[in-house]
Amino acid sequence: MPMSLLNIDQVSTDELTSLFDLARDIEHGNYDREAARRKILIPLFLEPSTRTRLSFEAAMLRLGGQILHVPPIEDLSISKDESLEDTIRVLSSFGDIIAMRTPQEPAIYLAEEYASVPLINCGNGCDEHPTQTLLDLYTIRKEKGRLDKLNIALVGDLKYARTMHSLITGLSQYEVTMFLISPKELRIPNELRDKLQKRKASFFEIQGIEEVIWELDVIYIVMLQHHRIQDPETVTRLRQVYYRITPKLLRFAKQDVTILHPLVRRSEIAPEVDAFPNAAYFRQVQNGVPVRMALLSRMLNGDPWQV
Ligand code: CP
Repeated sequence: MPMSLLNIDQVSTDELTSLFDLARDIEHGNYDREAARRKILIPLFLEPSTRTRLSFEAAMLRLGGQILHVPPIEDLSISKDESLEDTIRVLSSFGDIIAMRTPQEPAIYLAEEYASVPLINCGNGCDEHPTQTLLDLYTIRKEKGRLDKLNIALVGDLKYARTMHSLITGLSQYEVTMFLISPKELRIPNELRDKLQKRKASFFEIQGIEEVIWELDVIYIVMLQHHRIQDPETVTRLRQVYYRITPKLLRFAKQDVTILHPLVRRSEIAPEVDAFPNAAYFRQVQNGVPVRMALLSRMLNGDPWQV
């Protein structure tokens, strides 16, 4: 069975370091421009995406590879009730690697069972988004010069945001202190809390960013995942208590606090913050290309987690 990337726990700290070193070399222009020659990427996105899909496609093209045009879901035979198992079996025979996003959490694991080529999880429901975490960690390393001895705030919807679940898990491999800041009903899932406790990760669950703003090295915020919440009244209520990073709040922060967001942004970062030198969310997006190039070149050329 080929090695696929389904969750961030599959990648060890040494493997992360090795991947980030390769991404850095790629950014400096030191890489094999033919690493994906004659290889085909199949982007199977069953949920909308701008960054993940297009940065995978850009990464593949920059490595000399090609991309299969996968039509929108309504034009695929899935819309005639073809099973996911058969869809994946069929797509596997058309290319070399599948990048897949699905609204259903278990679907990625089912797909991996039926894929005969490597599969990359590009987001499975509320569960995980491991390649976002790769670029988030790479960005923190680049912006702060290290991934240890940092106070990192993870702010907002910690219940439904898959980027948060993967990032919190990934950060638990490092010597950092995590402040998990959310309204009570949007706290991290119990399984994730159990995992952090088992690993003896340093974390605090609080509700107010003002309580710790002065000691933060990194603020990572996400939007309220309103599309995952059924009840419109709950969405309205949560919007009223949700967080917003503003120049006024940042007056109490360290001068070099790094501000990150996986985007899509709604109102949780005021537009005036974009001009701050440490507002790094658009650099974070840009890092997605070299990081995904590093990942693809490893996965398409034998040992995916070569150290
Ligand atoms: N960060 C992220 O996953 O963005 P997209 O939904 O646009 O891919």
